[in-house]
Amino acid sequence: MIIIFFGAPGVGKGTQAALFAERMGYGHLSTGEALRNAIAAQTDIGKLAKQIVDEGKLVSDEIVTKIVEETLVLPKFQAGTILDGYPRTLGQAEALENILAAKGQKVAVVVNITVNQETLVQRLLARGRKDDNETTIRERFAVYEKETAPLLDFYAKTPNLIKTIDGEAEVEEVYKRVKAAVEAR
Ligand code: AP5
Ligand code: MG
Repeated sequence: MIIIFFGAPGVGKGTQAALFAERMGYGHLSTGEALRNAIAAQTDIGKLAKQIVDEGKLVSDEIVTKIVEETLVLPKFQAGTILDGYPRTLGQAEALENILAAKGQKVAVVVNITVNQETLVQRLLARGRKDDNETTIRERFAVYEKETAPLLDFYAKTPNLIKTIDGEAEVEEVYKRVKAAVEAR
């Protein structure tokens, strides 16, 4: 089963994806986490990505697709695949369709988490990751609105694929909503 965790910066994609993947025994791919690891390890991809991630802009579809292709073949991902923060552009969504079609697979559900923007800014500033400063947070939201939110129209073409849940509650309550949404697919 392929599940996409979707939503603006700070909605809890990573928190919920990690819990869900661990409890279900699925693989969890956060492209943001993969890029931060590459940056820390100073790999070729990390060197290309560093400034882009620091500024809150999007790394190229080519780089991200390469990470996804290399990750989805790992054994853990055969039981189930949680995609967190990917896809983020129409090009990535189309690349994903092709990767999955080659294996006879399809996205099973898009869990779209929503949270009020004021709450998001507070959450991100409190976390304090390197890209959690006011300037970069503003850019990440702008990129989300322009490049990523329109993907909801792409996925809405498949009836009932998108399950929108309110992410403004404590973590375990949101988890219950996520689980119910996936089970209702
Ligand atoms: P990425 O790492 O994906 O960041 P993001 O989308 O901005 O989202 P975050 O990770 O900040 O938030 P989240 O929704 O995962 O929430 P979290 O659970 O952490 O991407 C970073 C960068 O990498 C991008 O800007 C881009 O440069 C690059 N990149 C990544 N993917 C890419 C792609 N596909 N294409 C191109 N470039 C890409 O929660 C946030 C905080 O809130 C945490 O402190 C958490 O503890 C807290 N929290 C979570 N849930 C709750 C709750 N229910 N109540 C209270 N607090 C909560
Ligand atoms: Mg995250």
